[in-house]
Amino acid sequence: MEFDDVLEEKGTCWHDLADVTAAGIAKVLLYGPSGTGKTFAALHFGVNGTPAERLVCTEDLTSGEITGTWMPVGENRWEWREGPAIRAWRGAGGVGSRLVIDEVDRASGDALSTLLAMTDSPESARWRNPETAEWVRPGSQFSVVMTSNVEDLNEIAPSLRDRFAVCIRVDRPHPSALRTLSDDLRGPALAGSLGPIGRRVSLRSFYAFDQLRRHCGAQRAAHLIFGADVASSVLDALTISSLA
Ligand SMILES: Nc1ncnc2c1ncn2[C@@H]1O[C@H](COP(=O)(O)OP(=O)(O)OP(=O)(O)O)[C@@H](O)[C@H]1O
Ligand SMILES: [Mg+2]
Repeated sequence: MEFDDVLEEKGTCWHDLADVTAAGIAKVLLYGPSGTGKTFAALHFGVNGTPAERLVCTEDLTSGEITGTWMPVGENRWEWREGPAIRAWRGAGGVGSRLVIDEVDRASGDALSTLLAMTDSPESARWRNPETAEWVRPGSQFSVVMTSNVEDLNEIAPSLRDRFAVCIRVDRPHPSALRTLSDDLRGPALAGSLGPIGRRVSLRSFYAFDQLRRHCGAQRAAHLIFGADVASSVLDALTISSLA
């Protein structure tokens, strides 16, 4: 099979995501190995040119970082600044936009409860601005993509997972991500991302290798980036692809 055929192969996770997005499914969970482009896809695919809002979950994430907080705006004056989830509910002109929630498996406590409220079904979801008392509901174009590195979906809070009927395991870089690499690196980068756990090589390493080898040559760049064990297989793959 030619390299381009591999990229366009039907039945990959990216075809699944394209189909799900085209069907108007507004809540999707992308999970799986690091550096395959989950966050990039969540931020850029299916957003119709409207910038997405992004939240990165940590154990310390607070409710305020999701829906908003009071901010001082002068002497004895405070204003409510809406957070990314409410901004995404409103989106451009009130129609709603994309909310990206990265590393969702790390959300807990109050933040998790707030995420449950923000990702509730459109019929139930509503939030009251504490300053203006306005009731806000998600716009019709509001969508959420959550990402996680977990391999076992049971590591994500069941109530949150339940709101996301479609969960796609992203196991390879998107074709457009591979195309941003130099020609000779595309095949090895695809093969590297499909490797067994422990020997899998992320897209980020190939981007760094592509840049570094221009300065210090492929041998040294491979050792610096991939380490001694993996460097030789990457260099072998490059030799093979240059002979093809
Ligand atoms: N389709 C794409 N086009 C161009 N660059 C891309 C594309 N997909 C991913 N990238 C780039 O590849 C790198 C890894 O992508 P990203 O951060 O989305 O991976 P991830 O799967 O979210 O990783 P992690 O699980 O570690 O968060 C980033 O530098 C990103 O900009
Ligand atoms: Mg990510």
